[in-house]
Amino acid sequence: MFAANMQHLALLTCFLALLSPLGISAQNSTFRNPIITGFHPDPSCIFVPDLDDTWFCASSSFLAFPGLPIHASRDLVHWKHVSNAFSRSDQLPGMAFLPKATSGIYAPTLRFREGIFYVVATLVNQQLPRVNDSRWDNFLVTTEDPYSSEAWSDPIHFSFPGFDPSPFWDDDGTTYVSGAHTAAYYPGIMHAPLDLETGEIGNIIMPWNGTGGSSPEGPHIFKRDGWYYLLAAEGGTRENHMVTMARSRNLQGPFEPAPANPLLTAANDTSSYFQAVGHADLFQDANGRWWAVALAVRAGGSYGEAPYFANLPLGRETVLTPVTWEEDGWPVFTPVSGEVSGWPLPAEEIPEQGEGQLSDANDSVIFPPGSKLPIHFVHWRLPTARNYAVSPPGHWHTLALKSSVLNLTGFDGDYALGRGQTFVGRRMAHSLFRFRVDVDWASSLTKEEMEVGVSAIQDQAQHFDLGIVLLESSQENNTSSAPPPLQPYIRFRGHSETPYRGLTNAPSEIYPLPGGWAGQKLTLQIEAVNSTHFAFSAGPAGKEAEIRVFGHCRGDELVPYYSGLVLGVYATSNGKHGERAFETYISNWQYIGLRQFRSQEDVDDADREV
Ligand SMILES: *[C@@H]1O[C@H](CO)[C@@H](O)[C@H](O)[C@H]1NC(C)=O
Ligand SMILES: *[C@@H]1O[C@H](CO)[C@@H](O)[C@H](O)[C@H]1NC(C)=O
Ligand SMILES: *[C@@H]1O[C@H](CO)[C@@H](O)[C@H](O)[C@H]1NC(C)=O
Ligand SMILES: *[C@@H]1O[C@H](CO)[C@@H](O)[C@H](O)[C@H]1NC(C)=O
Ligand SMILES: *[C@@H]1O[C@H](CO)[C@@H](O)[C@H](O)[C@H]1NC(C)=O
Ligand SMILES: *[C@@H]1O[C@H](CO)[C@@H](O)[C@H](O)[C@H]1NC(C)=O
Ligand SMILES: *[C@@H]1O[C@H](CO)[C@@H](O)[C@H](O)[C@H]1NC(C)=O
Ligand SMILES: *[C@@H]1O[C@H](CO)[C@@H](O)[C@H](O)[C@H]1NC(C)=O
Ligand SMILES: *[C@@H]1O[C@H](CO)[C@@H](O)[C@H](O)[C@H]1NC(C)=O
Repeated sequence: MFAANMQHLALLTCFLALLSPLGISAQNSTFRNPIITGFHPDPSCIFVPDLDDTWFCASSSFLAFPGLPIHASRDLVHWKHVSNAFSRSDQLPGMAFLPKATSGIYAPTLRFREGIFYVVATLVNQQLPRVNDSRWDNFLVTTEDPYSSEAWSDPIHFSFPGFDPSPFWDDDGTTYVSGAHTAAYYPGIMHAPLDLETGEIGNIIMPWNGTGGSSPEGPHIFKRDGWYYLLAAEGGTRENHMVTMARSRNLQGPFEPAPANPLLTAANDTSSYFQAVGHADLFQDANGRWWAVALAVRAGGSYGEAPYFANLPLGRETVLTPVTWEEDGWPVFTPVSGEVSGWPLPAEEIPEQGEGQLSDANDSVIFPPGSKLPIHFVHWRLPTARNYAVSPPGHWHTLALKSSVLNLTGFDGDYALGRGQTFVGRRMAHSLFRFRVDVDWASSLTKEEMEVGVSAIQDQAQHFDLGIVLLESSQENNTSSAPPPLQPYIRFRGHSETPYRGLTNAPSEIYPLPGGWAGQKLTLQIEAVNSTHFAFSAGPAGKEAEIRVFGHCRGDELVPYYSGLVLGVYATSNGKHGERAFETYISNWQYIGLRQFRSQEDVDDADREV
């Protein structure tokens, strides 16, 4: 009897193993958040059985170019940056002229249908009033190959008086687009039929105003068991952010809110290291189990008390959490934390295809001749293509930069008037990191205020730079009638003016080049040394022992508003001498992720060790 039962059990186990698709374990799993670190807000993700059971995510990129990064995963743990849906300036040429650091590409929705991937998003001009429809340039781009940036189409624009557009295909084949409306003098969610080929919009209706939180936005529609579920974000994207939901038997409404709203939030939860949780999207896996992604910031329980983002300027990142459905037909979202237990995960596997690298990978870029810039390198607004050259003749294994007149501050703090700044960087992706490059500057800098350096930049109102700059030498004890000679200095300079407070810190310190450094290639480095400070260092390339710190800034002087911190190199003549006044050479680009904080305990441990 016992033996027979054992046999049955063995058969049953075997049968269950066959039922679960290849590679998916039957055991619940534990995984870590964020899944895509650094500046990757407003995630929208899908599961695509047609492409080898792969998940894909898109996120907001604001003024970063290339933009609309697409990540792919085979196991929900390893996320590879596979393409950028916006990689050609002429897809959205208007971005070069957008005023305000909070303009740019907002909240894409990624969807897949009948072999085609769709990214639907808004290019926002924050300087126009909310009720001026020109503020919202809604568009969609498509591809059959999500692994190729070049394959993403030119945009089809559609007129929709709001933002955060999300497509939905009803059973009868009609396509709708939902969004956050601004047409009336109250905020809420709208939707309308949309012709995906022409961009023609049908009758707009406004079926839900949310639960009363500020800024109802980021809507997505899902159909399940005959209900239309409307998922939304409310409360604003900071400390009161939350995920809410309503449903109706009819897409036109009326929508009844979930009794348990908000379904996911960290508002008022001071125990959560992950704050601002909201702006979710839902998808299923091969077993039909439900998951959600959302944005969150690793800010700790003091988030919301000034100063904002007490320790980390990483920005809004992508987090994952399991979802279950109750008998009453409403979903339950697992609270977001650094380590989440939930649904089984597929076996570990990294996507083979795609142009980029894993989202938390280190950089060791030596700019090989014939190569292009890695796809995770970004410019601030659209770049002037001829200002960047990889390994030009005579300067192999370098990135040659031609200088811009504008420095990263720009002439009015956050605007470039289409002229552009010579800058290229990569997102901060770890709580603690070290970023460095070597700079061949000596024969490049010939006139006053010519400068090449590294920057930790949140936006044009908040950045700290360490540069090599040519300045007139000190005029102390002047006895000569000749003009003062020019001399290279190390300059540590910054600007920190946040949306929450006035200018708090603007160091401008110069140091004559230490003896023996003149004419040499120099290493410039930015390091997050602990949970509160960044250190800016320089030294002769290849002489590790001589690298020394020239300045510090605090993380809370680089407050993320919508984007997140980017680390990179710039070349400028600070308002003088015209465009492309000099060319300089960057080599040996390294970014090393040293540590990832996933809880307040991680922060405390790290600070204790230092
Ligand atoms: C909206 O902004 C555009 C661009 O600045 C301007 O030309 C237009 O007159 C504005 N429309 C309204 C209704 O204010
Ligand atoms: C949304 O709010 C407006 C203004 O109060 C109101 O007129 C409208 O009926 C509301 N819409 C819904 C669907 O409740
Ligand atoms: C958080 O607390 C404030 C103040 O008590 C309250 O108004 C708000 O509704 C709370 N938010 C959530 C999501 O519970
Ligand atoms: C497995 O994970 C799901 C989703 O989080 C949860 O509902 C379920 O209780 C877990 N099962 C076990 C045995 O822990
Ligand atoms: C990045 O480099 C550091 C230092 O060598 C290493 O500890 C870490 O594992 C590397 N990260 C990845 C994702 O390879
Ligand atoms: C300038 O003159 C003062 C007084 O003679 C002297 O102490 C100082 O060292 C001089 N500075 C330089 C840079 O030569
Ligand atoms: C010294 O001062 C004179 C008169 O101001 C100025 O023309 C000259 O450039 C200065 N020279 C140096 C070396 O600072
Ligand atoms: C981090 O390092 C800076 C610079 O050395 C120091 O001033 C600061 O107190 C440190 N912070 C912590 C939390 O240890
Ligand atoms: C940037 O360049 C402008 C001139 O275009 C100059 O006035 C300003 O001092 C420079 N530096 C900073 C940090 O803004």
